[in-house]
Amino acid sequence: MTGELSPIDKAKFVAAKRAADFVEDGMRVGLGTGSTAAWLVRCLGEMVEQDGLKIRGVPTSTRTAELAREVGIEVISLDEARWLDLTIDGADEFDANLSLVKGGGGALLQEKIVATASDQMIVIADAAKEVEHLGSFPLPIEVIPFGWQTTQALVEETLVSMDVMGRQASLRMNGEIPFITDEGNHILDLHLGRIGNARQLAMVLNQIPGVVENGLFIDICDKVVIGYGDGRVETRDINEGTVSEDRLDFVETDNLFRDI
Ligand code: A5P
Repeated sequence: MTGELSPIDKAKFVAAKRAADFVEDGMRVGLGTGSTAAWLVRCLGEMVEQDGLKIRGVPTSTRTAELAREVGIEVISLDEARWLDLTIDGADEFDANLSLVKGGGGALLQEKIVATASDQMIVIADAAKEVEHLGSFPLPIEVIPFGWQTTQALVEETLVSMDVMGRQASLRMNGEIPFITDEGNHILDLHLGRIGNARQLAMVLNQIPGVVENGLFIDICDKVVIGYGDGRVETRDINEGTVSEDRLDFVETDNLFRDI
């Protein structure tokens, strides 16, 4: 079955598998959203089933919650957990400071709340997610449906004085209708091209009424685990200033690759 995985899926899988090694018995773990985070949830599910790992997971979306339950992870709410030992999640972009763009899957609000409530956040990603400057990937912002067009106009006006290349905002769609987040909001994707000052932009966007949260994660991520299609894995720790590399073998198990 692994032979059918594309190099990008193999890269996501090995990043997730290596990051799962950081999860220890008794931990409360934030479970990210997206295709890379789904591998992580599957890896943790296998560790629960095969090795008796005891963890409680706080999912960052309804789809992650469904998958976590399906693979046998005990799911609790953030209010039950209050604080987490570790959150592991994917990203749409990361730079050398481990600043992130997230929200491509539309779950940025819960992802940011959960990651911020964690002792540590680890991002798992394939190498294509690394960028010199954030902003090629459209920056998602979550906005409330009430007056969203006015909010969009305010956002575009605000971007005029920001250090960005593009200023166009588009409403994310789900077919013919607007995309709705787990919190019942809409997503505006900001086509910025290049973000010069991510910290400033993140603060200014959140000042706009109608904007609930933005997809810039600054000073939240501690480590990135980067996977490659040939099984190589690189782990960078921004606090320790360390980089380590190793290689993972693909081991087929019914659990991990079921239904993929
Ligand atoms: C979900 O809202 C996002 O923040 C994801 O973490 C991000 O889009 C990465 O997704 P993939 O792992 O599918 O690339």
